[in-house]
This record gives sequence, C-alpha cells and structure tokens, in this order.
Amino acid sequence: MKTLNIGLIGAGRMGAFHGQTIAQRIPGAKLYAIADPFPQSAENVLQHIGEEAKIYTNPLDLIQDSEVDAIVIVSPARTHSENVIQAIEHGKPVFCEKPMAVSIEEMKAIKKAAKKNPVPVQVGFNRRFEKGFEQAHQEIVDGQLGDVQLLRSNTRDPELSGPEKKPEWTIFLETLIHDFDTLMYLNPGAKPVEVYAKADALIRPDLKENGLLDTSVVTITFDNGCIAVADASFQAKYGYDVRAEVFGSEGMITLGDIKTSSMQKFNTAGASYQTTRYDQDLLFDAYVDELKHFVKAVQNEEVTPKVSIENAEWALYLALASIESVKTGLPVKVEDVISLQLKEEAM
Ligand SMILES: NC(=O)c1ccc[n+]([C@@H]2O[C@H](COP(=O)([O-])OP(=O)(O)OC[C@H]3O[C@@H](n4cnc5c(N)ncnc54)[C@H](O)[C@@H]3O)[C@@H](O)[C@H]2O)c1
Repeated sequence: MKTLNIGLIGAGRMGAFHGQTIAQRIPGAKLYAIADPFPQSAENVLQHIGEEAKIYTNPLDLIQDSEVDAIVIVSPARTHSENVIQAIEHGKPVFCEKPMAVSIEEMKAIKKAAKKNPVPVQVGFNRRFEKGFEQAHQEIVDGQLGDVQLLRSNTRDPELSGPEKKPEWTIFLETLIHDFDTLMYLNPGAKPVEVYAKADALIRPDLKENGLLDTSVVTITFDNGCIAVADASFQAKYGYDVRAEVFGSEGMITLGDIKTSSMQKFNTAGASYQTTRYDQDLLFDAYVDELKHFVKAVQNEEVTPKVSIENAEWALYLALASIESVKTGLPVKVEDVISLQLKEEAM
C-alpha cells in the first residue's frame, strides 16, 4: 500500500504528539508537511522528534500541496472548521482534533461540504479508542448491563494552564465535549433531550469577570430515560483524571484508572500509589490508535470512520445547550438550542 503523506496543521503541545505518532508510530504514514503561523514551532517539533518535513505558515498552502494525501488538524479550536472545509473541498481526508466546530453554523457548513465531496472525516474523541471504554460500549450494545439508567463521566485537568488566554466557554467546547461524546458512546442509540449546567470560577475567581469558568457540572436526560452527569475541573491537584461509570438494570461498569502502575505502597502513613499527571501518558494508546484508525480508514477509502461528523455534531449540541443553560440558569431542551442558535446566527 502507498505511504500516506500527511500534512499536520498546528505544531503546539498536542500537534507535537500527533506529529510524532504520524512520523514514528504508524506504519504506512509519513509526516510530509507541517503548517503553523509560527514556523519555529514546526521546526521545534521536527527537531524534537528527529524528522524532516516541509514547513508552511499558511494551512491552505499545505492543504493545496498536491503531495499531501490527508490532513491532521491540531490548531486552536476556533480555526478548525475553516481548515476542515478547505480539506474536504480539496478532496483530502481529514482528522480534526476536538471540537470540529464551535457553532452550529460552522457544523452546518462542514456537513454541506462533506455531502458535496465525501471523504473520510474523523474527530478526535480519543476515549472511543481507549480499550476499557471500547469494551464497555460493546458490553452495553450486547445488553450485558440491561437498560442504562445512570451515567457519569468526568475530565479533570492536572493544572489550569494559560488561564488568561482561554477563550470563553472553553470548559464546555473543549473539555466537557469529551464527556458529552463519552455519555453518548456509553448510551448507544439514545438521544439527549434536556441539559442543565452549572459552572463557576472556583480555581481563579478573579478571572470570572473575564469569562473564565473553570469548574462545571452538567446533567443530561436522554430519551431512553437515562440520567447522566458530567463534571469537569481545570485543576485536580492529584493528576489527570478521566473516569466514567455506567449503571444499568443488570449491573454497573466503572472506567478509568489514574494509577501509573499496579504498585501500591503501604507504610506507617497508610497506603499510597502514584497518579498520572499528563493526558498524553494516561491516554497514550488511545491517542495513537485514533490516528492509526484514521490512516486505515483513508487507505481503505472508508468515508465514515469510527468517530464521525455526526458524533462531533451531537457533542457540540450538548456543549451549546450547556452554555445556554449557564446563561439562563435554566434547563435547556436540546432541540431548542439547535433552533435558537440557528436563529441567532441568521440575525
Ligand atoms: N483530545 C485531547 O484530549 C486533546 C488534548 C489537548 C489538546 N487537544 C486539542 O488540540 C488542539 C490544539 O491544542 P494544543 O494544546 O496543542 O494547543 P497549543 O496552543 O499548544 O498549540 C496550538 C498551535 O497551533 C498554532 N496555530 C495557531 N493558529 C493557527 C492556525 N490558524 N493554523 C494553524 N496553526 C495555528 C499555534 O502557533 C500553536 O503552535 C485544540 O483543538 C485542543 O482542543 C485535544
């Protein structure tokens, strides 16, 4: 099979990891080019991983490079949809880090482009590639848990990085977006009906007036009766904490393990173990496997990879409904937020 030349857009913290994965962890893939408005960032990534690639400062130039077969977008969230659409319009398969879009208008434009020019489009919901989450999903599909009645998912970052630079609503659009997708993955076939969200600035109360919300709890009810809760914090002093729980009529599944290894130490202070501090350590395999899946989907010309535009769209609805709920202080019907958002953007 021909080596897939991949163009990477965005050479920051996550772009460096995905760049190394493309170059060194996926047989049949090559890191052919990197685009970043700061070329030094691309150079740093290449130097760090010991590879060579073309460097662009404009993502569109990379997309238009006829040697580039597929695109991986790892730039800031608010730039994603433009590059996703450009990639699709140039007939290039695209993997986009979450969120694929930050508004319904952007999502609609992506769907329109994809309908006109179908190519594989995948979003970076890596929990769908974590072995335990995958296994839980299958158990639920197979009916092993009976009816799903209660669900829980959380994302807690180890520390609040760059709080002054975080765009408004980041906690919903970039952090809880993972949990929204996880809740849908663990409640297969069900659709969310209503969302009630609370959020506050508990870590940096001084930044609340700048729009920074660093802590949140969201309750979601589904059309199969299941009640779900997602929570997020930008600062868990004990490490990077991603867990979930599914409670059904026939039992319960718990997911997520923040221990770095099976070692537990017992001494006069009691019992203890080390915890994972970094997302790329906790979910290393999932991050690699999602890109392996993308490369395989492109090589096999599968237009709908495992995590599709539709999954990106539902998670976005839940994020936008949460934002609306925080603004109004009221529960919000998912249907209403879709139409409200469309109306606002038409004005
Ligand atoms: N799946 C996950 O768990 C996970 C974890 C971390 C980050 N992410 C996502 O990855 C993306 C990048 O996050 P990060 O932590 O690497 O951010 P970052 O700020 O470290 O890096 C962003 C990079 O993009 C570059 N950039 C800025 N504007 C650009 C543009 N218009 N086109 C191309 N590049 C541009 C910046 O110069 C920088 O090098 C975000 O969407 C984030 O949500 C996902």
